[in-house]
Amino acid sequence: KRIAIFASGSGSNAQKIMEHFKYSDVAEVAIVLSNNPDAYVLQRADNFEIPSHVFDKAAFYQTDEVVDILKRLEVDMVVLAGFLLLVPENLLKAFPNKIINIHPALLPKFGGKGMYGDRVHKAVLAAGEKEHGITIHFVNEHFDEGEVIYQGRFAVDASDTLDIIKFKGQQLEHLHYPKVIENLIKKYN
Ligand code: GRF
Repeated sequence: KRIAIFASGSGSNAQKIMEHFKYSDVAEVAIVLSNNPDAYVLQRADNFEIPSHVFDKAAFYQTDEVVDILKRLEVDMVVLAGFLLLVPENLLKAFPNKIINIHPALLPKFGGKGMYGDRVHKAVLAAGEKEHGITIHFVNEHFDEGEVIYQGRFAVDASDTLDIIKFKGQQLEHLHYPKVIENLIKKYN
């Protein structure tokens, strides 16, 4: 099976996914796509000798450029990993129930447009949450609203800083995202 990763930034999750599937007989990462030509994830893809493609936001929403690339590469699953754009309808229709995302909070809390990166963790601390975590979910036409596939959680202490809860969340993401992807893709025909 063939995976496409979409990322807009650093790509530490993409890194873990590429490592996990490098010698896998279940699936391979066929391509990394980004809307951001400066995203560090593109360098990471190069390091794994995985092809990458940068697309323009307007083309993403107004043309089939990206969908055509995924079809040509016979991609089976689309994995968003720090991808900041809403997925357009043509892409959702081309991969029904085959597009997943990871979010650094326990959805439905702390999700939605503009809720990404440090903003999420700041909001969690400001709300005095006793618990925080990550969510892996199917993608639909709204930000962070598709069916939940997996949640990982940890306790938040009153003395925890943003860096601490961010780090704990990242550790959970890196540990679980590759495994969740593998479990889902194993169920594909
Ligand atoms: C992750 O925290 C993920 O949950 C969110 O964006 C972040 C991406 O980090 N969607 P990275 O680019 O994988 O390092």
